Amino acid sequence: MIPTEPQNRREFVKRFSLLPAVSTLLTASWSNTLLAAVTLPKRPTRGRMLLKISDFPALQDDFGSVRIGTSPVAGNEPTGLLHPILINRGPGGQFHALNSECTHAGCVVRPYSQAAGACICPCHGSRYAIDGARTGGPAFFPLLPYAVQFDGKDQLIIELPDLPHEIHASLVRNDAGSAARLRLEFLAFAHIHYEVMFQPSVSAPWQATPFALTPDGPLDQTVFAGNDDFAGVYVDTALQTGFLTVTMRLQPV
Ligand code: FES
Repeated sequence: MIPTEPQNRREFVKRFSLLPAVSTLLTASWSNTLLAAVTLPKRPTRGRMLLKISDFPALQDDFGSVRIGTSPVAGNEPTGLLHPILINRGPGGQFHALNSECTHAGCVVRPYSQAAGACICPCHGSRYAIDGARTGGPAFFPLLPYAVQFDGKDQLIIELPDLPHEIHASLVRNDAGSAARLRLEFLAFAHIHYEVMFQPSVSAPWQATPFALTPDGPLDQTVFAGNDDFAGVYVDTALQTGFLTVTMRLQPV
């Protein structure tokens, strides 16, 4: 459910995002030596969706369901690269994460309806159980499930294989020849908004960090809108130790 007040929505959206499972950078300082040790993730990249159950009233009770994505759904089709993910809460508080791509012809399946007892595809009426099993309609196969980890309290992690998301890092020097900024380069897909996230330690929460669009530009950007092209963003080397990554912003769709 999307809070209606803009500021609330902004805070809401920032609490969950899609990130590479392994961050590309772990540094004791932004030194040349450590940056040389940065390795690029191998294809395909695994991704993780992180979210708090408490952000979703629909998931507070069994048989609740939400649909989360990187970009809106237009008609019955996704507007972005990825189909949204259905998160269903089954009996006994068991969570199921499912690719919403209908296995009949690819339309975006609706969230689970308690009244209908199914996730229903709007195109030709295929029906799926709360765990994604196919129960009716022209589809022959179940919805693709993703592995989930629930901490028993509030955090749900969904593992996404084959996420097309790589980040290359390089140090950019200023005119005086000293290290000025770190350039993060990635393929930014259309209709997806990206944020640069910083985590000071493994146990600390991820925080959005501002970036610049040029090596010398102001560090005042917080969101990058993808356009099916490579993007280069620049972060301040004043950041000290920790992890740095680029995430795709998620929202209920
Ligand atoms: S695309 Fe879903 S039933 Fe045909």
